[in-house]
Amino acid sequence: MSKPILSQSADLKNCTVVLGTQWGDEGKGKIVDLLAANVDIVARYQGGANAGHTIQLPDGRSFVLHLIPSGIFHEHVACVIGNGVVIDPVALIEEIRMVEREGVRVQGRLFISHNAHLIMPYHKMLDQASEQRMMAKDGSAVGTTGRGIGPAYEDKFARKGIRIVDLLDRESLREKLRRNIDEKNELLEKFYGSHEHCDVEKIIAEYESFDRQIDPYITDTALMLNREIAGGKSLLLEGAQAALLDIDFGTYPFVTSSNPTAGGACTGLGIPPMAIGRVLGVAKAYATRVGNGPFPTELTDETGERIRTVGHEYGATTGRPRRCGWFDAVAVRYTNMINGVSSLALTKLDVLSGLTEVKLCTRYERISTGRAIENFTNDLRQLADIRPIYESFEGWPEDALEGATSREELPRAVQRYLDALEREVTCPLEIISIGAGREETLGVPLEPFEIR
Ligand code: IMP
Repeated sequence: MSKPILSQSADLKNCTVVLGTQWGDEGKGKIVDLLAANVDIVARYQGGANAGHTIQLPDGRSFVLHLIPSGIFHEHVACVIGNGVVIDPVALIEEIRMVEREGVRVQGRLFISHNAHLIMPYHKMLDQASEQRMMAKDGSAVGTTGRGIGPAYEDKFARKGIRIVDLLDRESLREKLRRNIDEKNELLEKFYGSHEHCDVEKIIAEYESFDRQIDPYITDTALMLNREIAGGKSLLLEGAQAALLDIDFGTYPFVTSSNPTAGGACTGLGIPPMAIGRVLGVAKAYATRVGNGPFPTELTDETGERIRTVGHEYGATTGRPRRCGWFDAVAVRYTNMINGVSSLALTKLDVLSGLTEVKLCTRYERISTGRAIENFTNDLRQLADIRPIYESFEGWPEDALEGATSREELPRAVQRYLDALEREVTCPLEIISIGAGREETLGVPLEPFEIR
């Protein structure tokens, strides 16, 4: 009789989810890279090449990863791309080559789910055509990354998607592709008035060549992960995007098309909820958003401009300038609740240095009635009728954080801000990042990553 893999893995709780608690770009790449030193496996569970996780190595080299999990720069770590991720093979192959050029071994360390769906050229075309149409019609575009994410998940849920496993059966692949391409060409031409067309034979030839290149990495990752969990290995489950971009809990329709929230880690990897022992939320010391949609604490003045410049707040995937604002504790309280966040990693605190005043949004007020609002809502109509209420803090000098090795060493003004933020989000700040480098981090567990 085979071993009861599942029931064993459910008891161990050796998985930690790391996810964004705002609108993305919180610096998850750095945190995962840092913690990966003490885990065995890092797994991506949703999203696709819309993500851009930036990692800076001790020798100064800096990389942006879109699909490969952020543990790849630690030789002992196995990296998994789960079934919940939508994979653009062009971006994936490019990224594998980029990492290999840096002398990093990928074969034997990267494992990709055979059940993951593929992004096809028509998904990217439809994503861009839809955005252009909405923009021209009434300016209501989502502001997507244009990477085909929405249309790929649409096909997945409409049961028309092409999965990696489909590449193995050429005859049925041809049939599925022909059907999809006929439909998409018609949509592109008749609905979007586009003259671009997809060619079945060209796409088949291209994807057959991708198949050969990615074949060594493909496996049943759910089985693999459950075996590893049962064997006592420790796992980091790396979220992409963030909770306020979640298709269910974000500011719909200005969201991504997957579940970056903690629940998505189980469905996106095929692991049991009980195997998750801990959820580490990542939040920036201020807030940013790229793309359209509500952003209560947005600063459209010179302070916002300054944060953008000092924080290099330009999209790692698209290069678009990010909208910047003050930390919104109402929103982060909400995402902490949805995800069961056990502690936070606060990033980019250094970006606020040099400001004369720093603000923290602790609650909202309804504009129409003046009533105080303690809880976040993702209802767009209600969000249009609120204004943020701030607690104000004295700023700290540009060099105030330099050389600090613990939270206690930070100047009083910084500590006052951190204490208030911690109180307002109602969960402990476990890690504080004061720069892009691995060493510019306060509070990282030095012992092998502790599983709680
Ligand atoms: P999509 O995921 O490309 O469909 O874009 C939907 C929304 O999510 C847009 O507002 C994007 O700007 C945003 N988004 C997607 N991926 C990221 C990310 O990695 N960081 C920040 N925003 C993102």
